[in-house]
Amino acid sequence: MEDKKVLFSAIQPSGILTIGNYLGALRNFKKLQSDYNSIFSVADLHTLTVKQDPAVLRKNTYELTALYIACGINPDESILFAQSHVPCHAELTWILNTVTYPGELSRMTQFKDKSLKHEDNINMGLMDYPVLMASDILLYQTELVPIGADQKQHLELTRDLAIRFNNRFGETFKVPEGYFAKNGARVMSLCEPERKMSKSDANENAFISMNDDPATIVRKFKRAVTDSDNRIVCDENKKGITNLLTIYSAFTDKTIEEAEKEFEGKGYGEFKVRVGEAVADVIEPIRQEKNKLLQSKDYLDSVLKSGAERAQYVAYKTLNKVYKKVGLVPRIRG
Ligand code: TYM
Repeated sequence: MEDKKVLFSAIQPSGILTIGNYLGALRNFKKLQSDYNSIFSVADLHTLTVKQDPAVLRKNTYELTALYIACGINPDESILFAQSHVPCHAELTWILNTVTYPGELSRMTQFKDKSLKHEDNINMGLMDYPVLMASDILLYQTELVPIGADQKQHLELTRDLAIRFNNRFGETFKVPEGYFAKNGARVMSLCEPERKMSKSDANENAFISMNDDPATIVRKFKRAVTDSDNRIVCDENKKGITNLLTIYSAFTDKTIEEAEKEFEGKGYGEFKVRVGEAVADVIEPIRQEKNKLLQSKDYLDSVLKSGAERAQYVAYKTLNKVYKKVGLVPRIRG
């Protein structure tokens, strides 16, 4: 790898991604990839913490691999791989588990939210989810992690674990920093703008999926919840309009002030259509490209194969160091 800092991020193939994932994560991956040794993962092991249909999970893994590439991730330049193809992730999780306290995990917001949502399946994996995420990051000596605001708490735990391990066993891991988009680190639901936009929302009108065609996108924005006064401005008390302005400015690369000015005196109806069109203009070519890539499974398999080989090479260096530090006798090979 070139002499650049390491950037790592991952996305779960747990459904069709939304424009929240795009603005909070994918878009920034493309912007940053050439300035770093960039490593991107399809976090398939993480998805198993909630019930998955195995056939759908396999399909979603290819969908996400294709989407990464359609969004501008260059698999020759960056490393793109499936988490389950590199066993070090699960192996380092075991070691990090031994320096993690249950109280740290049970107070994670995502664990609490998901426990309420999946009451019939509160499993150990769900609780241990952030330790697997810490392993993903720390295995690559990562310095920068582009993520949405909802993953901030997990990154803080990652930093705590790295520092704790380094203090106990000597310098082993780099302590990573987060990277958050100025606009779009937290895209909200179109129906309940006080909640985060989520691909697992039961109400399909609440999110724009990266698979929605332009007509669907505009129709969903037309239905977006707003309020009864008619000013198009960002305001604490106007969560719906604030969310739409944020989405518009992120997709058009305009500032919020520029967007507010553009829509001064305009009605909500016209505004919502314009937001929908601005989003569709960006999403539609990506959707078409992704669908084209999906026709070529052999190509996607070859990307994942080479990605796993390259990732494994880097990851094993860290894992071997960790095993040695904690006192495990090195395995003699050959
Ligand atoms: P996941 O798959 O839920 O989401 C992928 C990325 O999208 C961001 N995101 C959002 N950003 C803005 N607005 C939203 N409404 C929104 N919804 C989601 C997420 O913050 C994330 O960056 N645990 C991670 C996946 C992961 C990971 C990692 C990330 C596994 N290992 C290591 C970074 C580093 C997750 O569930 O993301």
